[in-house]
Amino acid sequence: MSIIYNQTKHVFSIHTANSTYQMKVSEYGHLLHLYYGKKISDEDVSYLIPHVVRSHESNPAEVGEDRVYSLCAYPQEFSSNDAGDYRIPSIEIVNADGSYAFVGKYHSHKIYHGKYRLSSLPTLYAAEKENVETLEIILKDEITHISVKLLYGVFYDKDVITRAAILYNGSAKGIHLQRMMSASLDFMTSDFDLIGFFGHHYFERQTERHHLTHGIQELGSFRGVSGHFHNPSAIVCDRNTDEDQGNAYGFALMYSGNFVFDAEVDGYSQTRVAMGIHPKQFDYLVDKGECFEAPEVVMAYSGEGLAKLSHSYHDIFRQNACESRFVNERRPIVLNSWEPFHFSFDSEKLLSTAEISRQLGADMFVLDDGWFGARDHEKAGLGDWVANEKKLPGGIPVLARRIHDLGMSFGLWFEPEMVNEDSDLYRAHPDWCLQVPGRAPSRSRHQLCLDLSGPDVCDYLIKAVNQILDAGGVDYVKWDYNRYVCDVYSQYYPPERQGEIYHRYILGLYRILDGIVKTHPDILFEGCSGGGGRFDGAMLTYFPQIWCSDNTDAPSRLTIQYGTSFVYPVSTMGAHVSVCPNKKTGRTVPLKTRAVTAMHGTFGYELDPAKMNEQEREECAVYSEFYRKNEELIRSGDYYRLSSPYDESIYTAWQFVSKSGEESLVCVVTEDISIIDKNSYVRLRGLEGESLYKVEQTGQILSGAALINIGLLLPHTQPQYSAFVYSLKKL
Ligand code: GLA
Repeated sequence: MSIIYNQTKHVFSIHTANSTYQMKVSEYGHLLHLYYGKKISDEDVSYLIPHVVRSHESNPAEVGEDRVYSLCAYPQEFSSNDAGDYRIPSIEIVNADGSYAFVGKYHSHKIYHGKYRLSSLPTLYAAEKENVETLEIILKDEITHISVKLLYGVFYDKDVITRAAILYNGSAKGIHLQRMMSASLDFMTSDFDLIGFFGHHYFERQTERHHLTHGIQELGSFRGVSGHFHNPSAIVCDRNTDEDQGNAYGFALMYSGNFVFDAEVDGYSQTRVAMGIHPKQFDYLVDKGECFEAPEVVMAYSGEGLAKLSHSYHDIFRQNACESRFVNERRPIVLNSWEPFHFSFDSEKLLSTAEISRQLGADMFVLDDGWFGARDHEKAGLGDWVANEKKLPGGIPVLARRIHDLGMSFGLWFEPEMVNEDSDLYRAHPDWCLQVPGRAPSRSRHQLCLDLSGPDVCDYLIKAVNQILDAGGVDYVKWDYNRYVCDVYSQYYPPERQGEIYHRYILGLYRILDGIVKTHPDILFEGCSGGGGRFDGAMLTYFPQIWCSDNTDAPSRLTIQYGTSFVYPVSTMGAHVSVCPNKKTGRTVPLKTRAVTAMHGTFGYELDPAKMNEQEREECAVYSEFYRKNEELIRSGDYYRLSSPYDESIYTAWQFVSKSGEESLVCVVTEDISIIDKNSYVRLRGLEGESLYKVEQTGQILSGAALINIGLLLPHTQPQYSAFVYSLKKL
């Protein structure tokens, strides 16, 4: 049993293999959060709450003359509103009478085997025989009869606890829900660092770590999409936590729209973290008898540093997010047409490219943007999902057949959520865009955003995309999304419901994905959003892989992929070899370095193979073969960050270790030439100290202890941006 309720003490203890999470129902019915951290027993640890008078704090009416009991001084599991807890609230409601108060008190609970699911939002799932349990606790406001069901999914072996919350309006009238966090967590202390992942287009998920100081630190997005600017994931850890030791708590939201992650250190130096849908422009009218579901947060805990925390996330996102068969299958090595051709191609050019790309070891040809409608540039055609017969006579089925005849599979790009004004779709349905009445909507990349809160827009998109897919020949789809949302107003809803549209857009998106992705189990879907602008757990329930960034420059990718790896597995990161000088950064690095960096992902090419010489093509074939040989290890092994690309070290290195411990692959890219003749060693992780390992590339036989404590000696005098790989086999 991983969830235990002590009836006498009213204490809930949730255990995973290495962690404990504890809550207690107080004598007045408030659900107090007691502890989250290294595993302890079921003993009631409520002694950790100091019972002291906090002058000026409010004391609930029911405590009478007691000046100690205060909602602001006590750690809360799901905080109340307008009742004396002045920290960031879990919930904000405008009740039918105009008041803001909500005080949820323990009402009932349920414990069962297996994992809860939400009806409107993607969640992790539990495999049939997996050791997973659910705890549901209902908190009810005794005055308004509004209740909140707190959900906990406990993945015992993975040290993961998921949380979600469902509001139920049991009151007599509709209420306005203006903030609803999926999870919040109170720590009694404040000596923490926060690690977040910020960025922008071409520069996603840069790692930033700093101390939490008094006040509120907020990460989030209100661009309508989880976004390039902050990833919906964050880590709170002890100040001395590093890869190998220390407490670390991870939070990853299973949601693709506006989100917030707040960390507040209060005046008593207590810390509250909260995560959920961003409250900006969020105003959800929940009618009487109706529910609102807040998306799931995946919380992981490690008492042994960041590597272990990442392993928990990697395992859960590989095994419990996406039900597509491709998750565990060998992925195609694609050649993608975007960087080499943009919009200018025809069938013959594509076919000759596909043919030569086989020499590189590619086994799938992906036709990116530009194949449909009048899409000869960014300003036209989006929305018209009909092949452009001038470029592609006979349409997609003919092209797909001819690609298949070359012995390759075939992939196609879509951006279903968008429309150009210069398109047949827009001319027929100008009212299908998000737009504020009387105002011309803002364009971004010359495109407008379709109103996915509208059921007929969703129906149309499901039909339009399925029509192409059902005609056959498409083995892979790249699902793109290339702008942020604004002008958020929907003709489908009355004025008092316009605060629902950001969220309803995302619900519409999931409905469309259910209707397209889930009805085509034999197609591999890859997510994309101007590179990695929508890289989140919810997307990973549909897409086994997501294009990590439009920046294909290998040194830039080192920081992008490093940051992505804290929460998301390497098997989900789309990464390709492209030409040099790189089109974005102008940087030139050796082909091998580009290939080794792209092996930190799903590996493929994004270049014109006809422009390469024979020697370069042969070199690529060697890399493709090496990737194929190591693919399973890369996809399913334990991943270790051996160094940080932000440190002053001369190299960035990472390592994969097979779950059996028999094999390992070490990848190194040198970055600094200023200390070229310095002796440099790469210390490995995840090996057994007493075992011996053979290093294939050097022929050395070394003990795990030597490899861990001394490390592999890097070759001297190598040019900047050299790459090395070392394959280890346990003897
Ligand atoms: C986005 C994607 C690119 C490419 C283009 C096509 O930027 O991230 O990979 O598909 O769109 O327009």
